[in-house]
This record gives sequence, C-alpha cells and structure tokens, in this order.
Amino acid sequence: MQSHYLEISMISTKGLLELSYLIGSVTFIIGLKMMGNPKSARKGNMLGAVGMALAIAATLFLYKTDHTSKEGLKIGILAASLLIGTLIGWLTAKRVQMTKMPELVSMFNGMGGACAALIGLTEFEHNLGNAGALSFIMAGLVIGSVSFSGSIIAYLKLNGSMRNPIRLPKYPIINFVLLIALIVFSVWMISSGCSDNLMLYTLFAAALIYGVFFVMPIGGADMPVVISLLNSFTGLAAAFGGFLYDNKVMLTGGILVGSAGTLLTIVMCKAMNRSLLSVLFGSFGESAAQGDQAEVKGSIKDINVSDLAVLMNYSKKVVIVPGYGLAVAQAQHVIHELELLLEERGVEVAYAIHPVAGRMPGHMNVLLAESNVDYGKMIEMEEINPTFDQTDVVLVVGANDVVNPAAKTDPSSPIYGMPILEVDKAKHIIVNKRSMNAGYAGIDNILFYDPKTSMFFGDAKKALTELVAALKSL
Ligand code: TAP
Repeated sequence: MQSHYLEISMISTKGLLELSYLIGSVTFIIGLKMMGNPKSARKGNMLGAVGMALAIAATLFLYKTDHTSKEGLKIGILAASLLIGTLIGWLTAKRVQMTKMPELVSMFNGMGGACAALIGLTEFEHNLGNAGALSFIMAGLVIGSVSFSGSIIAYLKLNGSMRNPIRLPKYPIINFVLLIALIVFSVWMISSGCSDNLMLYTLFAAALIYGVFFVMPIGGADMPVVISLLNSFTGLAAAFGGFLYDNKVMLTGGILVGSAGTLLTIVMCKAMNRSLLSVLFGSFGESAAQGDQAEVKGSIKDINVSDLAVLMNYSKKVVIVPGYGLAVAQAQHVIHELELLLEERGVEVAYAIHPVAGRMPGHMNVLLAESNVDYGKMIEMEEINPTFDQTDVVLVVGANDVVNPAAKTDPSSPIYGMPILEVDKAKHIIVNKRSMNAGYAGIDNILFYDPKTSMFFGDAKKALTELVAALKSL
C-alpha cells in the first residue's frame, strides 16, 4: 500500500515537472512572438523570463524525489549560484547604455556558450560507451566553446580593445582546416570510445582557439551580424544539452534561440544587401576607404537653427529619420519633445524606421520607445517610402548609410543594392550630424550634396535642444 502511494507521488512529481517544462516552453514561444512587436516586446520578454524561472525552480525542487542531505546541499549551491548570477545579470542589464547593448548581448551569449561547454566537460565521463549521448556531448562542447571564445573576441572588438581585424595570410583556408580537424577529432573520440580526459580538454582548447580564429579576422563594424550568428550557435549547443538530458524546455529554448539567431542573421545580411560569406570573409568599409566607390562632387549648404525652426513650423508634414548618431547623442527625449511641439502647431509628424538603422536590430524602435514615442508613429521603410514625395521636411538625425542614394544609383558603391529610405524625394531634406564624416560603411553620401539638402551641423542632442528652443520662441 505504502509503495503504491510512493509510486503515485513519484508519478505526480514527474508529471508536475514535465508540466512545468511544457508551460516554460509555451511561454518561450508566446514570449518570442510578442517580442516581434514593440508594443508587446517588454511583456513578451517578461513572460519568457517567468517561464524560465518556473523551469529552473521545477528542476531544483522536483527533479528528484529522494532528497538526501547531499541533495539539499546541491540545491543550496545551485540556488546560491542562481542568485549571484541573477544579481550580476540584473545590475549589468540595468546599468548598460543603449549604445553598449550589442556588447552586453555578446557577453551574455558567451556565457550561454560556456554553460553548454561545461555540460560537455562534466557529462563526458558519465556517458562513456554511449555513442548517442557522446555525440550530443561533443556537439554541445565544440559549438558552445566556439560560441564562448568567439563572443569574447566580439565583445573586445565592440568595446574598442581590439580595433582592427587581425588576418593571418590565407586565413579562410586555415579556418576551414581547423574546422575539419575539430569535426574529425570529435568523431574519432566518439567512435574510438576514447575515455582520456586529456583528449577531451585538447578538444575543448582546440574549439576555443577556433572560436578566436573565426571572429578575429572580421571587422568590428560587422560584429552585430557575427553576434547574431554566434547566438544561433549557442542555441544549437543548448539544444544538444536538451537532447542529452531529454529535457523539453532546454530543447525548445535552444531550438528557438538557434532558429531566431539564424533568421536574424539572414534578415540583417539581407537588409545590408550582403551575403554571410562577405561578412565573414569580406572587408566591409575598408575597400570604400581605399576609394573604390565613385567620387562625390558638389557643394553643400547649411541651415541655421532659426531658419530651420521657421521651415518646420510652417510645414504640413515632417518625417524624422533616426540613425546611429541619435543613439550616440542620447537625443531620443529631445526628439520626442520636438515631435510634440510640432504637433501642437498642427504639423503631422512620423518617424521613418530603417531595419538596420543604428547598430542592432530594432535599435531605433527601442530607443524611441524609451522616450514614449507612440508606436503608431514609427513607420517601417516599405510603408513610408511611397510617402516621401508628399513630405515637406525630412529631418535626418544621425543617420547616414540608410539614406544614401548611392545604394540605388552607384553600382561601385559597397552599399549598392541595400534598400534605403528614399528621403531624396521629399521637398526639403535637413541632415543633422556633427561633420561630413562617413557612417558605418565608410563612404561619402551624395544626399548631402543634393540641392534640396541643408546640413544642420552639431551634436544631435545639443542641436535639437536649440531647435526646440527656437520653435518655442516663434
Ligand atoms: P551610420 O551610417 O553609421 O551613420 C551614423 C552617423 O551618425 C555618422 O555619419 C555620424 O556622423 C553621425 N553621428 C555620430 N554621432 C553623432 C552625434 N552625437 N550627433 C549627431 N550625429 C552623430 O548610421 P545609420 O544611418 O543608422 O546606418 C546604420 C549602419 O550600420 C548601416 O550601414 C548598417 O548596415 C550598419 N549595421 C547595422 C546593424 C543593425 S542590426 N542595425 C548591424 C550591423 C551594421 P558625424 O560623425 O559627422 O556626426
């Protein structure tokens, strides 16, 4: 009778655990869907986090029913690690500046890769002789290690510690040989039944070195794409962990991260009109700096703040184009103030959002949402492009490549073919930036020489604050 009760309680505990994993998996899927829209993104993120917390808590308390004193100690250690990790993650994410977000993402991603690699290192000896489990372990170990060391290099490149790409001669061949060697080594370890820890750690070290070699030759400016790719690696590594433990939530989470990372990489490459191979082995921005694109000739004119205030005040429709410079200057609040001021005076205002404006996906949406800009006013490129010819003033703030007409007109330009915001169709184009310096692609912008364009030089926050003051004084 007693054993019957024990059996029932075991079943219900296991059932509860599986149910928690199922709920966790569902929250990941719904949360990810919600993240597709700026309105629901915050809630989606929170939902996913709650699902993850539920899955972790369920694993801690329901995974085994025979709680010995040692089991209690393990739970204590795990809970303490979780608490410390959560605290560090929370504080770092709270304090990070928006423009430093890609660095934070690369660091967090690196930690995910390290976790997957550690699973491989610890589970190896427990699964000797089981080729199926060893395959998952090796895959998780290699991919996780590559993702970890690659993310660290990406982080160093983004924070400026490692500025220039370091390219060994014939590096694509070296990297290819290294990759093949890693695969052959892993397959040999599984098929030969090798149980030597030294070999395991050699494989681990080789994978770390490959991660460094993989990212080292890529230019710092291409890091957002690389991070997204490494993110998909981490997801894949975690999914192998899910297979290993037959853990549904780990599997779902890993597959979602893996596929989302892959899709994001493709979307970014497409929006920049570049192939993944050209990101990994190309030298974006460098060829441009060496003068490959057609020379830009002409003169520029600038506009002073009071003339600009008058022009905007008497416009019917103004479209603001935010770019990377807006984020650098942290001018999102003052731009919102400008928008409200113009609307008070009967001017229709909208924001034109290019998919790769800034330095990370959704950068402009997040930035503007921070200053409570209405989501309905953020109009995507495809939708706003046909309306520029009915726009009186386009105010480009800290954007450059995403409005460069060379993408449509100059086949020698490195950005040729990239879809752009067609602001040159508007009646007046105002460009705010600090100088005539190039943007991310390192090329001149023919828009600045367009007779309809006036340059409004200055740091975005300072210049817009002056513009707001000038408008108020009208
Ligand atoms: P960019 O072409 O990089 O131009 C930004 C401009 O902002 C610069 O020309 C700079 O000119 C100006 N600027 C910098 N600080 C400023 C400040 N404090 N005040 C005013 N202006 C300032 O930016 P974009 O048009 O947003 O294009 C994004 C680029 O990044 C694209 O080429 C895209 O392919 C690439 N990229 C994007 C992503 C994602 S996912 N968003 C990922 C990887 C690469 P001054 O120095 O003269 O001020």
